Amino acid sequence: MDLSSLQILVLLFMLIVSGFIWLHSWSSTSQMGRIPGCLGWPLIGETFSFISEFSSASGIHSFVRKRRQLYGKVFKTSVLGRLTIFMTGREAGRILLSGKDGIVSLNLFYTGKQVLGPTSLLTTSGEEHKRLRRLIGEPLSMDALKKYFQFIDDLAIKTLEGWRGRTVFVLEEASTFTLKVIAHMIMSAEPYGEEQEKIRANFKVISSCFASLPLKIPGCAFHRGLKARNRMYAMLDSIISKRRDGKDVRHDFLQTLLRKHSKEAADDDLDKLTDAQLKDNILTLLVAGHDTTTASLTWLIKFLAENPDVLQNLREEHMRIQERRHGSLHLTWSEVSNMPYTIKVINETLRKATILPWFSRKATQDFSIDGCDIKKGWAVNLDVVSMHHDPDVFPNPEKFDPSRFDNPLKPFSFLGFGSGPRMCPGMNLAKLEICVFVHHLLCRFKWRPLDEDNCVQPTLVRMPKNKYPVAVEPLET
Ligand code: HEM
Ligand SMILES: *[C@@H]1O[C@H](CO)[C@@H](O)[C@H](O)[C@H]1NC(C)=O
Repeated sequence: MDLSSLQILVLLFMLIVSGFIWLHSWSSTSQMGRIPGCLGWPLIGETFSFISEFSSASGIHSFVRKRRQLYGKVFKTSVLGRLTIFMTGREAGRILLSGKDGIVSLNLFYTGKQVLGPTSLLTTSGEEHKRLRRLIGEPLSMDALKKYFQFIDDLAIKTLEGWRGRTVFVLEEASTFTLKVIAHMIMSAEPYGEEQEKIRANFKVISSCFASLPLKIPGCAFHRGLKARNRMYAMLDSIISKRRDGKDVRHDFLQTLLRKHSKEAADDDLDKLTDAQLKDNILTLLVAGHDTTTASLTWLIKFLAENPDVLQNLREEHMRIQERRHGSLHLTWSEVSNMPYTIKVINETLRKATILPWFSRKATQDFSIDGCDIKKGWAVNLDVVSMHHDPDVFPNPEKFDPSRFDNPLKPFSFLGFGSGPRMCPGMNLAKLEICVFVHHLLCRFKWRPLDEDNCVQPTLVRMPKNKYPVAVEPLET
């Protein structure tokens, strides 16, 4: 196909899509009449101001703050071709996140649904969602994670050894570390070598296609993402068939799930998964667990350098642990389960950075909130950034202060890992990875940021745009 006919195709496609969006918004606008807010220009809505504020230092915080001041806790807007209600506050959190998955369901963008597949944990709801959660939650429980602890500890030590006396981009290092951990847990991938490189290359393409235009045309990010997804699935197919032949027996996530749907399991076994379900959910874990943990670890290291008192306190916690060990480099399981100050630092990092700035849902029935009637089918977003910066709950919200978590908070005021039936099932793994990495970092090194820029990447998971470059030196003892 030559370029001009390709361009015509693209144009035609975009016209059709725009037409649909216009029709859709026109019919919903009449119903949304009573919800305060501004829909901006036709089609484009408020997308431009949304995108420009999205990548500023405060992220969508200033976008939602301005509108909240004008319209109140519930307002409508039109961004990225979608009419959306934003809401905030503990009451909205309770209604949208708690209990019955009956009122709302998760609302992924079209690209996300296509890439993750129809049987992903993220695209299912109700009973099917519950069943998948049970299967996936088991290998991510504290008990099951013990198996992988040694690997994580070794890898953190090895990764940090490479930092000595160098300049590193913390985001890149964190990304490599967390991908190796999760690829090891899921399918026993070796941390170095060709297989790891393949996973990494495909994964990069997949995660960058989520926020792209939904064009299945060669050369477009979405098309490349689907291709990379297919390569990843082919890789999984070959691993799965080796496992089934009994050529390769491992003790990983994949093996646990395979055993559950092997021939020996009873026919009516509710835990059976098809190959499609297996692959969709393995990809889902990679996608949901990788960028999030990478971003959290990077923000945490950045916030520590900006807050020397917190760094000092945290280093004392880790030095005490190290001293009691009498010389061994390796952490133990009981040590890592007893790092109270570190846990507060992690929570405060997730509050201040709010790496998932809003949670998207779709109303599956009519309901009302703060006096506003929400109709079935509407997209509703819980604005978590505003909740995490509410001065009534978190006084002086811009300050990085882990002691906020000294006392228990009211329910639905801190949502770093979400809440309710869709609360993050990878929470324990994420905390484990961060605790181990931070321990070895603080016991052996100090670092100095080489760039003070505070801009944020315009991706769904908030990360520093400059990848946080630092100069690393050994700690004198
Ligand atoms: C610090 C790192 C992490 C953070 C901050 C985080 C945060 C979150 C949040 C806020 C949600 C709920 C979203 C919503 O309600 O719409 C969520 C869901 C989820 N997370 Fe995490 N996460 C992290 C790490 C991980 C890891 C390591 C994994 C997997 C190994 C993982 C897997 C998932 C999955 C599968 C869901 C969807 C659950 C469902 O829909 O039932 N996450 N995460
Ligand atoms: C940190 O946050 C989690 C919820 O994400 C909560 O369960 C835990 O109690 C918090 N820990 C501390 C020390 O505040």
